[in-house]
Amino acid sequence: MNKTIIVTGGAGFIGSNFVLAWIKQGLGTVVNLDKLTYAGNLENLASVQHDSHHVFVHGDIGDQSLVSKLLSVHKPCAVVNLAAESHVDRSIHGPEDFIQTNMVGTFHLLESVRAYWSQLDSKEQKAFRFLHVSTDEVYGSLGKEDAPFTETTSYAPNSPYSASKAASDHLVRAYHHTYGLPTLTTNCSNNYGPYHFPEKLIPLVIHNALTGKSLPIYGNGQQIRDWLYVEDHCAAIRRVLEVGKVGEVYNVGGWNEQPNIEVVRTLCRKLDQKSPRADGKSYADQITFVKDRPGHDQRYAIDATKIANELGWKPAETFETGIEKTVNWYLENQDWVTNITSGEYRNWVQTHYSERGEELA
Ligand code: NAD
Ligand code: DAU
Repeated sequence: MNKTIIVTGGAGFIGSNFVLAWIKQGLGTVVNLDKLTYAGNLENLASVQHDSHHVFVHGDIGDQSLVSKLLSVHKPCAVVNLAAESHVDRSIHGPEDFIQTNMVGTFHLLESVRAYWSQLDSKEQKAFRFLHVSTDEVYGSLGKEDAPFTETTSYAPNSPYSASKAASDHLVRAYHHTYGLPTLTTNCSNNYGPYHFPEKLIPLVIHNALTGKSLPIYGNGQQIRDWLYVEDHCAAIRRVLEVGKVGEVYNVGGWNEQPNIEVVRTLCRKLDQKSPRADGKSYADQITFVKDRPGHDQRYAIDATKIANELGWKPAETFETGIEKTVNWYLENQDWVTNITSGEYRNWVQTHYSERGEELA
């Protein structure tokens, strides 16, 4: 059986972890389609650059002629859609790219895939999968006492990012319902781990701590996220691809709710032990409370019972083990961070945090 898959967004944070694990495990060939936006980084894929099982293609999921060509040349048995604009704060500053890639791009991708899938023979059609990677943010925000999100929680996206992801989820659902395309959707909580772009909380805090900058906490820092180690998310995607029921949605989470301020304090404690400040003080002294994110969701929490009971997936890492690996990775890969925290990154940090009363560039 042809074990070639197409992964979109495979030069980003989750995508590169997914591609690296797929190849390391000898699961087949990956055609990796990525537009290489500011968030895409070929350095993440350096170890598979010359691997015959990795075919990198620079391009846009919205380019139907390119995607159709890739489908007809490589004849994949699955498409895993990870390409997206992913940063909530950027979606508040400028929503248009989010609408273009997450909504319009996913629509064009679905159209190309539908055309390809329609002309497969019935055995290949049955085996084919389109797996769409989405987020818990489509469900909106929970109060302190609310039960975690399940697959039947109503959609209530609050940011342009989550609204654009919600729209793409609905399109995927419709392509299954209307055309019979064998789709699967995963809605995952906050990931962390290697190759996480340092605009996001955990890598930003590690980077700022080590470079003597302030650690900006939005509002009072009591917002809650449910953190999952990225390799566990990739394992969940593989499991859903392998045995997930066509047309279904699976929530993926870490059973690990933490207020932001606690996450930041944990990171400071780890760094105090592993790479102490020259003046002997704690990195926690660098914590600064800044102007809140507009429309900031208070709490996300995933009920991952369905994927555990039906597909037998559960996270392998606890937050303690995952954050230990993550901090070690960033300490050992400071060049990786240095290489990307220049140029466009500096402009973003300058614009975004100066509005919050902090100069971080
Ligand atoms: P990321 O921003 O790190 O990477 C996105 C990748 O997609 C980049 O390599 C970028 O170049 C590429 N890309 C962007 N637009 C493209 C386009 N039009 N065509 C082709 N490639 C394009 O994002 P991530 O954190 O790795 O997230 C991957 C997916 O997982 C996204 O769909 C996101 O919504 C979802 N997700 C992320 C998290 C998280 O915590 N990071 C949690 C749940 C779900
Ligand atoms: O829940 C899944 C989502 O998690 C994914 O769909 C998104 O793609 C991903 O970016 C992430 O979104 P968040 O907005 O939760 O992640 P971020 O790292 O940007 O922020 C985490 C929390 O930390 C959030 O409550 C905002 C806060 N924060 C963030 C930054 C960048 C701060 O307090 N200070 C900061 O400087």
